[in-house]
Amino acid sequence: MNRILQNVALVAGCLFFAASASAAAPTLKPHHQSIKDCAVCHTAENAVAGNAFVVPSDKACMSCHGSYKDLAKKTANLGEPNPHASHHYGEGISCTACHKEHQPSKVYCNECHNFKYQIK
Ligand code: HEC
Ligand code: HEC
Ligand code: HEC
Ligand code: HEC
Repeated sequence: MNRILQNVALVAGCLFFAASASAAAPTLKPHHQSIKDCAVCHTAENAVAGNAFVVPSDKACMSCHGSYKDLAKKTANLGEPNPHASHHYGEGISCTACHKEHQPSKVYCNECHNFKYQIK
């Protein structure tokens, strides 16, 4: 590489580094602040083409929170419908259809219904 090209590469490298260093780290929900390791949710197992920073699989959530059956017991007090024992989807809906992490959560059901939940 000649000198000029080398410098151009260096400058480009620095700019890239500055840009990535200044990118805001994604925020975690208050209840997940104690999780210090991104890989707890962004598991290597779930990576797509080597990138683990994709939507996590339910397995990661369930490793701490248990199964849909366990969760349905916890939300039984909400009455019907129980968001974790769904009329249409059973256990075949992903946690992240409703619970988001780096953005506000939303009750997926309310695309069509109007259930009053205080989702976190
Ligand atoms: C390393 C363990 C761990 C993993 C993995 C994890 N959580 Fe949690 N989560 C916690 C802890 C600890 C709390 C706070 C105590 C509690 O409420 O159980 C919490 C709280 C929550 C709450 C709020 C409970 C409430 O009403 O206070 C929701 C909702 C939740 N997690 C959903 C998820 C989802 C969805 C995923 C997967 C994307 C996930 N969690 C992955 C440990 C984990
Ligand atoms: C259809 C939407 C929906 C899906 C899918 C869903 N949840 Fe929930 N989740 C809720 C709602 C709604 C609440 C209760 C909010 C409230 O208290 O009003 C809740 C509450 C919780 C809580 C707090 C329970 C407590 O202690 O009171 C946890 C933890 C949780 N969800 C984890 C999960 C995990 C893990 C999955 C996937 C296995 C999942 N949820 C799938 C909607 C959903
Ligand atoms: C408690 C589980 C959890 C933890 C811990 C977590 N994430 Fe996430 N992450 C998610 C979920 C769920 C999504 C899907 C989009 C959303 O909910 O915001 C996501 C999406 C992402 C995305 C975007 C992927 C896409 O395709 O949109 C990036 C980037 C990301 N996370 C980075 C991080 C980094 C960096 C950390 C550590 C500082 C981290 N996450 C920790 C749950 C988690
Ligand atoms: C795409 C639109 C759509 C979504 C999303 C949706 N529903 Fe429904 N839901 C319907 C329609 C249409 C009906 C009436 C027909 C039927 O019973 O399947 C219905 C019926 C129901 C019923 C029976 C109501 C009754 O009076 O018998 C329950 C309970 C229910 N939904 C719960 C849920 C829950 C919980 C979710 C989220 C996990 C959800 N729905 C998501 C469209 C939807």
